Amino acid sequence: MFRTKAGVLAWISALWASGSTGRAEIRETGVWWLPRNVSNFGHEIDFIFYVILWLTGITAVLVFGTMIYFIVKYRQRAGVGAIHSHGNNTLEVVWTTIPVFIFLALAIYGNEMWAKMRMETPPADALQVAIVGEQFGWNLRYPGPDGKLAKMDSHKITKENPFGIDPADPDGQDDFTTYNDMVIPVGKAVRLHLGSKDVIHSFYVPEFRLYQDMVPGRVYDFVWFKTDATGHFQLACNQLCGQGHYKMFGKLGVVTQEEYDSWAKGKTPAPATASAAPAPQNVSVANR
Ligand code: CUA
Repeated sequence: MFRTKAGVLAWISALWASGSTGRAEIRETGVWWLPRNVSNFGHEIDFIFYVILWLTGITAVLVFGTMIYFIVKYRQRAGVGAIHSHGNNTLEVVWTTIPVFIFLALAIYGNEMWAKMRMETPPADALQVAIVGEQFGWNLRYPGPDGKLAKMDSHKITKENPFGIDPADPDGQDDFTTYNDMVIPVGKAVRLHLGSKDVIHSFYVPEFRLYQDMVPGRVYDFVWFKTDATGHFQLACNQLCGQGHYKMFGKLGVVTQEEYDSWAKGKTPAPATASAAPAPQNVSVANR
């Protein structure tokens, strides 16, 4: 098939090019490393990630380097007897104490981060977005001009009422819904109300360094974040939720406030409980 070395190389680079463009559609940046971060909490998450990476990396090099050195230096040699060692108490104490403090520091810092991300009250002017996962797509509900979302009740979530709202809720009359299409304004706090219609799904955006499972029977309203750059990302489900899990993804655009406003303006208020999902097709039992 390949007459020359150049032919092989051309073929490999063609394969490479097709592979990398395919991936670039899914992830804009950092295909081989962390994707770029556009959220306020992400910088600190990346910081702790690199601290751990460097700590464990340096430790690994030191430990394996010493081990290989000792293996070579004290290998079996004719005429040299084995030495019996009881160890060294000082060394033992030192190499136990140092990791204890490192782990404690990491645990305390990680806990602080977690509390900041999930326990701090979101700003009052945050954009409220309801997101309900289903097999296999994302139902989104946005507040209309009043800025208020209809109240979600996880126990009222049904096939026909994916957001579990009261149709008479005055806050919900001007809400609009989308399906697999999330748009948020850059720089504005966004508060999510996450739910599920059927099984466990997961809201995960690597560029936001944000991950939250959506367990049926619950509405998670403590997740919020801010973005600091515009861009187009993929909203992909991150929990294996059935045979169609691979196709459970939507568009996620972080746009300017003006772009967001004109996008929202073009939407018609949704009937009280309906989802924006396309009419269900004939889905076989195996697919469910
Ligand atoms: Cu939903 Cu995987």
